[in-house]
Amino acid sequence: MSDKVIIFDTTLRDGEQCPGASMNLREKMEVARQLERLNVDVIEAGFPVISDGDFDAVEKIATEIKGPKICGLARCVAKDIDAAGAAVKPAGERGRIHVFLATSAIHREFKLKKAEEEIIRLAVEGVTRARGLVKDVEFSPEDASRTEPEFLARVVQAVIEAGATTVNIPDTVGFAVPDQYASLIGYLRSNVRNIDDAIISVHCHDDLGLAVANSLAAVKAGARQVEGTFNGIGERAGNCALEEVVMAIKTRGDFYGGLHTDVVTREILKTSRIISRMSGLHVARSKAIVGENAFAHSSGIHQDGILKKRETYEIMDPEEVGWGGTELPLTKHSGSHAMKVRLEHLGFHLSDAQLKVVYDRFKDVGDKKKFVYDDDLAALVEDSMTSD
Ligand code: KIV
Ligand code: ZN
Repeated sequence: MSDKVIIFDTTLRDGEQCPGASMNLREKMEVARQLERLNVDVIEAGFPVISDGDFDAVEKIATEIKGPKICGLARCVAKDIDAAGAAVKPAGERGRIHVFLATSAIHREFKLKKAEEEIIRLAVEGVTRARGLVKDVEFSPEDASRTEPEFLARVVQAVIEAGATTVNIPDTVGFAVPDQYASLIGYLRSNVRNIDDAIISVHCHDDLGLAVANSLAAVKAGARQVEGTFNGIGERAGNCALEEVVMAIKTRGDFYGGLHTDVVTREILKTSRIISRMSGLHVARSKAIVGENAFAHSSGIHQDGILKKRETYEIMDPEEVGWGGTELPLTKHSGSHAMKVRLEHLGFHLSDAQLKVVYDRFKDVGDKKKFVYDDDLAALVEDSMTSD
């Protein structure tokens, strides 16, 4: 099994399904160009049959973006598959059709009103039709994590026989928990005879806040493609945040035993910012990797530790993901060490006695404001020196 984890970005398809995140063609192209610079392996550019706008975006991305594979989504319906095939055609060998059909009992009974054998027949027909258009076909049994494992294994085996090159196991409603999801991947690896003929992919939603944990557990169990979005945007609580998966695999190489992605991690922050701007969805300050506070340390103990050795409180180098460096914002929690370093940076070299006076006043200011800014510091120093 390969050591590479394929990164499949669906920001422009599942991410765009986040209410209020629709993007126009110009915005989608800007995101796609950045995903190309980031070097993701697959861009799911849209769902071509749903609108002319989606078709045009997938086609333009397939025409202009070089490098990543370009994928279009389709239900197991001839007109969807044909539209996806036409939209990804300009990408040539890099074109992928992603066909999906729900398999869980609840979806079979209430949504599709179809029996198990009918589902298998439709899935096989869909994959066969897609293989007539492109060589690279992904199949997703929607709601896989709530599907009976024995039935799921039969579906997976049948679609691989029909020519699916990637089989995705979606946790469509974010129901899975890590151990169980990893066991499901393990079950499929042991019970699907031809499983090695396809890449196993995972696609997790974040309804229980477990999308990243589930994806990583699945990778450990043998999945080699992770689907998700940047900033974790997507339906409801969103999709698996790819920046977190990429950095977890990189940072915890000790645990993931040599696995790697080909993502250019220094482009991560820029990608997050572009997607936030294009989708209109803000990133929480405390969001891992890309939030404003992800590499900011405010407490005195932490700031002191960082100033002595960065790794005392940082597990990643912020520059690795595109930040300018570690940040030590000055607040009422800050210690005198961080204040002294900041003052020196501003050109103030004070004696220990002077520092003590300034630090006492610094604490008073910190009690009244969220941050003590450089201007506040300069005023404090001047004030302390003149009142001496
Ligand atoms: O969440 C889901 O099941 C999907 C499929 C179309 C893969 O987005
Ligand atoms: Zn999804």
